[in-house]
Amino acid sequence: MKKEFKRILVTAALPYANGKIHLGHLAGAYLPADIYVRYQRSMKRDVIFICGSDEHGVPITITADQEKTSPQAVVDRYHSLNKKVFEKFGMSFDNYSRTSLPLHHETASELFFKLYNAGILKEKKEKQLYDEKANMFLPDRYVEGTCPICSNPEARGDQCEKCGTFLNPAELKNPRSKITGETPTVRETTHLYFPLGEYQKKLMEYIAEADKRDGWKENVLQYCRSWFKEGLQDRAVTRDLQWGVKVPLAGFENKVLYVWFDAVLGYISSSKEWAVNNNKSDAWRNYWLDPSTKYVAFIGKDNVVFHCIVFPAMLMAWNENSNEKYVLPENVPANEFLNFEGQKFSKSRGWSIDVDEFLEEFTPDSLRYTLTMNLPEARDADFYWKDFQARNNNELADILGNFVNRTLTFAHKNFDGVVPALGHLNEIDGALLNQLKLVPKTAGDYFERYRFRDGTLEIMNLARYANKYFNDSEPWKTLKANPERCATTINLCLQVARSLAILIEPVMPFAAATLWKILNLPGIPSEVGWLNAETVLLKSGHKLGTPTILFSKIEDTVIQRYIDKLPSAPKSNKQLCEVPSVKPTITFEDFQKIDLRVAKVLAAEKVPKSEKLIKLQISIGSEGRQIVAGIAQHYTPEQLIGKKIVVVANLAPAKLMGQESNGMLLAASDSEGHLTILRTERDISEGSVVK
Ligand code: 2FM
Ligand code: ZN
Repeated sequence: MKKEFKRILVTAALPYANGKIHLGHLAGAYLPADIYVRYQRSMKRDVIFICGSDEHGVPITITADQEKTSPQAVVDRYHSLNKKVFEKFGMSFDNYSRTSLPLHHETASELFFKLYNAGILKEKKEKQLYDEKANMFLPDRYVEGTCPICSNPEARGDQCEKCGTFLNPAELKNPRSKITGETPTVRETTHLYFPLGEYQKKLMEYIAEADKRDGWKENVLQYCRSWFKEGLQDRAVTRDLQWGVKVPLAGFENKVLYVWFDAVLGYISSSKEWAVNNNKSDAWRNYWLDPSTKYVAFIGKDNVVFHCIVFPAMLMAWNENSNEKYVLPENVPANEFLNFEGQKFSKSRGWSIDVDEFLEEFTPDSLRYTLTMNLPEARDADFYWKDFQARNNNELADILGNFVNRTLTFAHKNFDGVVPALGHLNEIDGALLNQLKLVPKTAGDYFERYRFRDGTLEIMNLARYANKYFNDSEPWKTLKANPERCATTINLCLQVARSLAILIEPVMPFAAATLWKILNLPGIPSEVGWLNAETVLLKSGHKLGTPTILFSKIEDTVIQRYIDKLPSAPKSNKQLCEVPSVKPTITFEDFQKIDLRVAKVLAAEKVPKSEKLIKLQISIGSEGRQIVAGIAQHYTPEQLIGKKIVVVANLAPAKLMGQESNGMLLAASDSEGHLTILRTERDISEGSVVK
């Protein structure tokens, strides 16, 4: 079913130029998109990466009113702030445009007229609140009043922030205009509607086919299914506003396009701008108008309906009425939400971290790595300060950084800073080279399937493996006793360091560039390319650069400063999660009835048609067995193979989804649904008794 594509077009949701980017935004759409694009570039694929600011919509005009300035001034400020912060974070957009540009207005008007002239858009009359004093129709958010549910006197026309109820302005008690404070009247207005319902069948087919080819994420499919189940409704594409893309039709002088109708077209106008800036003004066509383009749209979950349903339907409507046919997204890998210390990000409650502030103290790569390891790929995830510190100190500094540093320092001290000769290879050298050959493919396959956390875990496991190889090879001993062996060990460690620079680049581009420099290699890692990481290409005799520290540790006092800044710090502490009460006491004899054993996982696979179950073939020393465990949402089968786990060996057999289970593995889970399998602290033979 796989289709061969010549080019890849990647877009990331256009953020509103009405506030600063926070960590939740990065984990939702931007970081995954950037990892994907950097990986594809390293694979030498023809890819463009498009984004920009979404500069229309009512919240922007409200900010402008509050600040007594113009909407243009608001978007100018946030566009430039966000653009800079994205650069600092290492986002590698080919173009970062803005929807207030004339090129965007022309693009949006062109599509609007194509649909209007084809008779697709239908006029409908409706009633709407009107401010007689300000002489204007009031968007929902411009109306305030008393919430009919909780009596909050400051509920908004679209939602009461206090109790969270979604409202329409007619439901508010004592409604008043936010502009003049007057009670609004009701007037009739005319809007143009897009007949989304007419596209439902085609949309369902489109999603089913794209899913078959490229494997859509289950969460995205679920959202789409629920929209289809409700039945798609016509959608108004115009609004009674001044700020936005004008609707140049008689009778529509005071109307603009609905922000979402124009925003998604920002991907096209930004691509056009990219082409113009690169002096090949038609180049955008190669991506948007050629069926051999793979279009991947990265977004957060709140944008699913617009990208999987509304935007494709708009493009279908265009395609049916034009010789130019736009490509539809081949995949929309939407992430769920990232929370912050167990709660939703909220600027107004001070429960947020702006990226610009964050990057004043910490490096972009430690943030990129921590976010990658906590991406809300299948369900909401959290950013915790303590976890950030631990990832940086225990994983980046102690594993990756330490491996690179000890290798380079050793080479400088004992081999005059050049790559020593590769001699005869022993068994553990061979095993290391095997890993080196495997990881680029395994990690790359994960990245292709939008599983950035798993891919990165594979890469970090290579660094872990290499650290162990360094220890087990004991070069400090062989230096005197067997210099050829020592040279071979260090040669191979340097080869792995070079491969790691290539492999970490999509996630940690800054550290990758530094490591490349330390190895005294020209350019940047992606120039030699991802697949080059499989092979040993550092020549013996190659002069190395000066070692520098790749990742510095973060002190407790620094992290504590940030934890203390949280409005209700104690609540944020992971340890204070709800802990179930201890069960009634049992005797030692009771406990002895349970036969706990160390087992080795020989093979693992997902149970077909089950989201939760994994079937494991294990060895408990004396015999092989099959067990079934509900851990598929926490582990991939690949992560389990070869691991030593603990099982209840004398549990009565059971059948789960038709699969026999002869035992149960031990795992811990907390109140937030995190789960970890219990493993032995040291390697010990399978069958060992746990007591
Ligand atoms: O949710 C948001 O931040 C929107 N501004 C995303 C728009 S994506 C696309 F349509 F431009
Ligand atoms: Zn309320």
